[in-house]
Amino acid sequence: MLEFNTLDDFDFRGKTVLLRVDINCPLHKDTLEIEDDNRIQQIMPTLKELLQKGAKVAILAHQGRPGDWDYIPLDKHAKVISRLLGRGVKYVDDLLGKTALDAIRSIPPGEVIVLKNVRDLPYEQDKKTMEEHSKMELVTTLSPLFDIYVNDAFGASHRSQCSLVGFQAILPSAAGRLMEKELKALGQVFSNPARPSVFILGGAKFGESVKVVDRVIGKKIADWVIIVGVTGNAFLKARGVKLGAPSEELLAKEMTPEDLEAAKILLLDKGGKIILPYDVAIEVDCRRRDILVGDLPQDHPVLDIGRSSIEKFSRVIAGAGTVFMSGPAGMIEKEPFALGTKDLMLAATHSKAYTVIGGGHTAAAAEKFGLFHKFSYVSTGGGALETYLLGKPLPVVEALKAAKSRKCPSK
Ligand code: 3PG
Ligand code: MG
Repeated sequence: MLEFNTLDDFDFRGKTVLLRVDINCPLHKDTLEIEDDNRIQQIMPTLKELLQKGAKVAILAHQGRPGDWDYIPLDKHAKVISRLLGRGVKYVDDLLGKTALDAIRSIPPGEVIVLKNVRDLPYEQDKKTMEEHSKMELVTTLSPLFDIYVNDAFGASHRSQCSLVGFQAILPSAAGRLMEKELKALGQVFSNPARPSVFILGGAKFGESVKVVDRVIGKKIADWVIIVGVTGNAFLKARGVKLGAPSEELLAKEMTPEDLEAAKILLLDKGGKIILPYDVAIEVDCRRRDILVGDLPQDHPVLDIGRSSIEKFSRVIAGAGTVFMSGPAGMIEKEPFALGTKDLMLAATHSKAYTVIGGGHTAAAAEKFGLFHKFSYVSTGGGALETYLLGKPLPVVEALKAAKSRKCPSK
């Protein structure tokens, strides 16, 4: 039995539903058009189910942060939803004024409107508890107009923000299908993984990675951890390898001396479960050149794992029961250095393992390589996934659990 309600726990016919989603999308820098609408696609099962069941739905969401270049209104998002639904969707450029309240009151059953970017409210992003947020104007004004609150914003579930946790204190609340799916997929990897369980951790967030590696080996979630990308370089450095000036300079930006010390201890403690690259690819005159780790340091930057490492790692992946991958193995923006990431993904998708990938760059890479749909599950989480990986509670999930334990009857 789940600790929170899902769409199965309510009768939605004729009910007015406030649906909080995470459709915060990457935008094109110049045109500000939505560049990747995956997060919008992923909320469609929940939206379609609510509409089919006869609910009147108002979508509450954010895009960017006030002051940032990608902070834009949600009319473009409403258009994508409209395209995916195959019918018009009204965008209401208001949240708490008469326009918004009238629009909410007049939603026909089976229809949806999109409200204004919720980060327009100065207090939206305040980090407060569910009870504190439930007293804010957003919650006190909108709650009386809604019967049920549905949260499908897994990507923002690490934020204890007003629209994400405040309503659960007042309204009967449920997790949407995406939230359910994300937690189920991650639960399968982290609670009961088919063995051997192989984690491939890459990217540049070295400090976080040290903690994640420590946790997944310490808690016996992972049998093997393959470390690649900038993080792989950092672990090589922690093992005493001198990388050369260009790579060391890049690393200096990503890690503190404390992180490096923590990685050294981790290698001593749990090194038997950690697999690092044997060879790497450096960039010489805009070309890829594979060299052994023993041939470092070099005056050329290390931008990918080498071909022998790819081969060896692929064999480990081929025998896995579970594969979890987060973070690229190399600089995927430069074609020759996308090889490691692509081949490790190919190995994962060709294996019989249950495969989950996550993190913005990783999902985008899978899409670029045409492998997105070959994984068992692709998480929409970036920061939320990191929080989950570290074993920290997700405030939105905690609020949904609290709402269920209040045993609010279905309205
Ligand atoms: C995200 O993309 O990380 C989520 O939508 C949360 O947004 P934030 O990082 O701006 O809080
Ligand atoms: Mg973020």
